[in-house]
Amino acid sequence: MAPQVFRTQSLIVHSHHALSLLCAILVFLSSNTMVFTSAQASNRSESDRQALLCFKSGISVDPLSALESWRNDSLDFCSWSGVFCSIALPVRVVVIQIRSARLTGTLSRCIAGLSSLEQMDLGYNGLSGSVPEEIGELGSLRTLDLAGNKFAGNIPLSLGASASLSYVNLADNSLSGVIPHSLSNSSSLSVIMLSWNNLSGVIPANLLMSSKLSYVDLQWNALSGAIPHFQKMDALKYLCLEGNLLSGNIPASLGNVSSLRSLMLGQNMLSGNIPAEIDNLVSLTELDMGQNMLSGQIPLTVWNLSNLFVLKLSMNRLSGKIPSTVSNLAQLGMFYLDDNELSGNIPANIGKFKRLLMLNLSVNRLDGFIPRELFSIPTLSLGLDLSNNNLTGRIPQEVGNLINLGLLNVSNNKLIGGLPFELGWCVQLLSLQMENNMLSGQIPQSLSALKVMQQIDLSENNLTGQVSQFFGNFSSLNYINISYNKFDGPVPTGGIFGNSTAVFLQGNTGLCETAAAIFGLPICPATSATKRKINAPLLLIITALITIASVIFVVVTIMKGPRTQPPEDFKETMKRVSYGDILKATNWFSLVNRISLSHTASVYIGRFESETDLVAIKVFHLSKQGSRTSFSTECEVLKNTRHRNLVQAITLCSTIDFEGDEFKAIAYEFMANGSLDMWIHPRVHGGSPRRLLSLGQRIRIAADVASALDYMHNHLTPPLIHCDLKPGNVLLDYDMTSRIGDFGSAQFLSSGIGGPAGLVGVGGTIGYIAPEYGMGCKISTDYDVYSFGVLLLEMLTAIRPTDALCGDALSLHKYVNLAFPDRIAEVLDPHMPSEEDQMAASERMQKYVIPLVGIGLMCTMESPNDRPGMHDVCARIVAIKEAVAL
Ligand SMILES: *[C@@H]1O[C@H](CO)[C@@H](O)[C@H](O)[C@H]1NC(C)=O
Ligand SMILES: *[C@@H]1O[C@H](CO)[C@@H](O)[C@H](O)[C@H]1NC(C)=O
Ligand SMILES: *[C@@H]1O[C@H](CO)[C@@H](O)[C@H](O)[C@H]1NC(C)=O
Ligand SMILES: *[C@@H]1O[C@H](CO)[C@@H](O)[C@H](O)[C@H]1NC(C)=O
Ligand SMILES: *[C@@H]1O[C@H](CO)[C@@H](O)[C@H](O)[C@H]1NC(C)=O
Ligand SMILES: *[C@@H]1O[C@H](CO)[C@@H](O)[C@H](O)[C@H]1NC(C)=O
Repeated sequence: MAPQVFRTQSLIVHSHHALSLLCAILVFLSSNTMVFTSAQASNRSESDRQALLCFKSGISVDPLSALESWRNDSLDFCSWSGVFCSIALPVRVVVIQIRSARLTGTLSRCIAGLSSLEQMDLGYNGLSGSVPEEIGELGSLRTLDLAGNKFAGNIPLSLGASASLSYVNLADNSLSGVIPHSLSNSSSLSVIMLSWNNLSGVIPANLLMSSKLSYVDLQWNALSGAIPHFQKMDALKYLCLEGNLLSGNIPASLGNVSSLRSLMLGQNMLSGNIPAEIDNLVSLTELDMGQNMLSGQIPLTVWNLSNLFVLKLSMNRLSGKIPSTVSNLAQLGMFYLDDNELSGNIPANIGKFKRLLMLNLSVNRLDGFIPRELFSIPTLSLGLDLSNNNLTGRIPQEVGNLINLGLLNVSNNKLIGGLPFELGWCVQLLSLQMENNMLSGQIPQSLSALKVMQQIDLSENNLTGQVSQFFGNFSSLNYINISYNKFDGPVPTGGIFGNSTAVFLQGNTGLCETAAAIFGLPICPATSATKRKINAPLLLIITALITIASVIFVVVTIMKGPRTQPPEDFKETMKRVSYGDILKATNWFSLVNRISLSHTASVYIGRFESETDLVAIKVFHLSKQGSRTSFSTECEVLKNTRHRNLVQAITLCSTIDFEGDEFKAIAYEFMANGSLDMWIHPRVHGGSPRRLLSLGQRIRIAADVASALDYMHNHLTPPLIHCDLKPGNVLLDYDMTSRIGDFGSAQFLSSGIGGPAGLVGVGGTIGYIAPEYGMGCKISTDYDVYSFGVLLLEMLTAIRPTDALCGDALSLHKYVNLAFPDRIAEVLDPHMPSEEDQMAASERMQKYVIPLVGIGLMCTMESPNDRPGMHDVCARIVAIKEAVAL
C-alpha cells in the first residue's frame, strides 16, 4: 500500500505541474505587470525560488545534471526539473521529486522556506549529513521520502508534529538514536518505514496505538525492549520488526490486529509461547517468527490461518508434534519449521498442500517414515529439506513425482534402502543431499537425467557399485562428495573429475583411477564393466598384470638348499593374513579376479579388507609338481632382496585351508602404472595412447632399472641374475618409480660350483637374450647387461628388438649404430614429447640422448667382454639423470 500512496500523489503532482506551467507563463511572460498577484504573493514565490537555489547550493555533485535547470537566472522555478507547483496563487512549490539522481551533498536547512511543500522525495541519492530539524516545521508535508541515502544522526525530534504527515520513509540510511515521540504520537501517520538504520531504544508504546497506521517497517535496526501492546490498530496490515534486539513475549493483544496481512518478527530475541490469540489474524498471509527463542508448542490455532502463504517458525525451541490439521493451511507456499525441537511423525496430510513450493523440516526430532504423500505435491520446486532428523525407512519411489524440485536434502537421518530409480525423474534438481544415512545399493542409472545438478552429496552411506560415469558429463556440477561409502571401480573422468578440490572420494576402499592419478588412487586394473563381460580391454589389462602376476619362479639356488618356509624374522616384518582374508580379497578365488593361471600357480587381483591398495595374490597349486619349490624359491628371493626398484611382497601366507589342506600364497604390491612396455608401445596395448613418456621420465626409468640390476649383481651375495629383463617386466608405481618384477627366470649365481644349473632353466625372451647364450655359455651378469642395453635402446627408439629392421637384416643394435651419433634424431621415438626450442633440443641431444644411446650400444655388444658392468652403467645413467634434474 505504501507504493500506492506514492503513486496517487504522483498523479496529483503531474496535474499540478501542467497547470502550474500555465500559471507561470501568465505570471512571468506578462513581465513585471503582476496582473494577477499582489506584491506580497510574488514575494513568497520568490522566497520559494530562493529556497530551491539554496537547496541546490547544498548539492556538491550532480553527475546526471538533474538540477541543471535550477539556475539563478531562471525565474520560472515551476519548470525546473523535479519541482512541482501549486495551482492556486501565489505559485508555491508543493512537490520536490528527485529520485535516484546520484546527488551527493547535504540537505540544506533552507528547505524550511518551502512552507507549502507537501511532498519531498529525494530517495536513493547519496545525500549525507543530518536530516535538518527544520523538516519538522513544514506544516503541509504529507510525504517524506529520504530512503536510500547516507543520512546520519537522529531523526528530527519534531518530525510528525505536523498533523498532515502520513508517509515517512527514512529506510536504508545510517540514522541512529531513538524513534522520536513526535513520530509515534502522530495521529495522521499511515506509513512509517525506518528499516535498515541503526535506531536504538525501545519501540514507543504509542506507536502501536494508532488507528491510522497501516504499514510499519522497522526491520534491521537495533531496537530493544519488548513489543508494546497493540491497541486500536484496526488499519495495520504490515508489521515488520525483523532483525532487531526485541525481547520478551509476543503480546497477546496481537490478536486484536485482525487487519494484519504480514507479520514479521524474525531474528529477534523473543521468548515465551506463540500467543494462541494469533488465530484472530484471519487475513494473515505471511507469518515469520523465525530465529527467536520461542518455546512450547505451536498453538493449534496457527493451523487455522488458512490464508497463510508463508509460515516461518524456524530456529526457535518449539516442541510438540506437527498435527494433521496442518493441511488446513491450504494456501501455504513456503513452510519452514526447521531447527526446532519438533517430534513425532511427518503427518501424511502434508500431502494435501496444493501450492507448496518449499518445505524445510530440517533439524528437528522427527521420526518415522517419510510419508509418500509428501511427494504428491508437484508444485514443490524450491526445495524439500528433511535433513537432520531421525527419519527411518526408505526414500519412497514417489519422489519421482517432484519433477520441479530444485533441492532435495534428506541427509543425516536413518534412511535405509536404495536410491529410488524414480529419483531420475526429478530433472530440475540442482542439489541432492543424502549424506549420512544408511542407504545401500547402487547409484541408479536413471540419475543420468539430472543434468543440471550442481551439488551432490552421498557421503557416509553404504552405497556400493561403481560411481556412474555420467557424473563426469554434468557440466554444472561443482561439488560431489561420495566419500565413506563402499564404491569401487573407476572414478569417472571428465567434467568435475578434472578438479580434485571439488570431488570427495575418501573412505571408499575400492575406487581406482583410469587416467592421470589426480586423486592419488590406484590405477584401475579394469573397469568393473569390463570385469563383468570379458572383452578386449580386459585382455590388455591382463597382459599388463601378468607381468606382476606371473611373479617369481626362482630356480633353486645351488649353495643353499631349498627352504620350505621363510625365516621367522622375515615373516615378522609382514602383515599376517589368514586363509579367510585371502578368500575375501580374491572374491572367493573368483574367475573374474584371476588374471593368470600357470601350472604351478594362479594369480588374482584383489584387495585385503580395510586396505586401500590393490594387490596381486599368487596362490600356489601345491598338488602340482614344482609348485612347492616355486613357493620356496620365491620366498628365497624375497628374503634376500630389498631394493626400491624391485617389486616387493606384501605378505606370505602358509597355512591350511578350510578343508585342512596345506595352502601357500604370496601377495605382491600392485603396480598402478602397469608395465614399461605399455608406455613405450601404447598402440600395441589397445590403441588409446596413454601419457607419453618424456625424455626425463625415460632417463629416470633407465636409472631405476640400472640401479636395481647393480644391486642384484653387485650387492647381493650370491649375485642374483634376472635372466628375463624386458620392458614388460619393468613395472611402474603410482609415481612412475620403476620396479623390476617377474623373477620367474631369475637365478642366484653360484659363486663356486658352476654345475648344470647355470644353464638349465634360462628363460629369457627372444630379442633380449645375449647372443652367447645360444651357444651354451654359463650364465653370468653379462646376460642382464645385454638385456638392459636392448631395453635402453628400445626405450629411446620405441622399436622392439624383434621388429623387422631393413627386412630383418639388422638387429636393433646395428640399426641404431648406423645412425649414431649424427643422425640419431632420426631413429628416436617420434612420439617422445619434443622440446619447445631448438637450442634446448640440440643441447639435450648432445648432453643426454647421445650418451644414453652410447650406453645402450655398449651394453649390446656381441662379445660379453666388450660390455660394461652394471656398476658403471648405473653410475653413468644416474649422472645423466642428475644433470637432467638440474
Ligand atoms: C520581499 O522579500 C524580501 C526578502 O526576500 C523582504 O526583505 C521584503 O520585505 C519583501 N517585500 C514584501 C513587500 O513583502
Ligand atoms: C550503531 O550504533 C552503535 C551505537 O548505538 C554503534 O556502536 C555502531 O557502530 C553503529 N553501527 C553502525 C553500522 O553505524
Ligand atoms: C486487545 O487484546 C487484549 C488481549 O487479548 C484484550 O484484553 C483487550 O481487550 C483488547 N483490546 C482491544 C481494544 O481490542
Ligand atoms: C533448512 O533449514 C536448515 C536449518 O535451519 C538450514 O540449514 C537449511 O539451509 C534450510 N534448507 C533450505 C533448503 O533452505
Ligand atoms: C553398512 O552396512 C553394514 C552391514 O552391511 C552395517 O554394519 C553398517 O553399520 C552400515 N554402515 C552405515 C554407515 O550405514
Ligand atoms: C575446482 O573446484 C573448486 C572448489 O569447488 C573451485 O573453487 C575451483 O574454481 C575449481 N577449479 C576449476 C578449474 O574448475
